Amino acid sequence: MSKICCCSKDLLAGQDEKIQKLFRSYSKGEENALIPILQETQGIYGYLPKPILYLTSEYLHIPIGKIYGVATFYNQFRLKPVGKYLIQVCAGTACHVRGGGLILQALESELGIKAGETTQSGLFTLSTVACLGACSMAPVVTIDGDFHGRLQPKEVVKLLRDYEMKE
Ligand code: FES
Repeated sequence: MSKICCCSKDLLAGQDEKIQKLFRSYSKGEENALIPILQETQGIYGYLPKPILYLTSEYLHIPIGKIYGVATFYNQFRLKPVGKYLIQVCAGTACHVRGGGLILQALESELGIKAGETTQSGLFTLSTVACLGACSMAPVVTIDGDFHGRLQPKEVVKLLRDYEMKE
């Protein structure tokens, strides 16, 4: 990764057009822009690329350590690229008491990865979230944004195979 010099004429030179537009919509040193910039960066890339975090640090005059602190504190941010299908397993209380842990185990076993990882094929990323806001359907999983509720481990494995078949 190239180091971004704080005294360069234009920090944004050479950056992707969408990133230039994003940063130019905020003022240099505007600390309150940190969360919106991180959210919009993730909207562009699907995760927060390291060079963009360094650029954010330079642009907003916020130490890189603080930026990593924010990016790792909030569940919504990802520091690694995600697979084509993002699987979110609810780990909230309602889902937990209705077997959410068994759903997660079934997915980990079927995919051969742990929560927070992406399959080698790049097809699936497995993650857990605190509550998906559909507790009456517990246990709940979303795949590519689609909700699947009242699942049994066997059913979630079948779902996974349906997505694989699409490929
Ligand atoms: S606890 Fe799982 S959706 Fe709320």
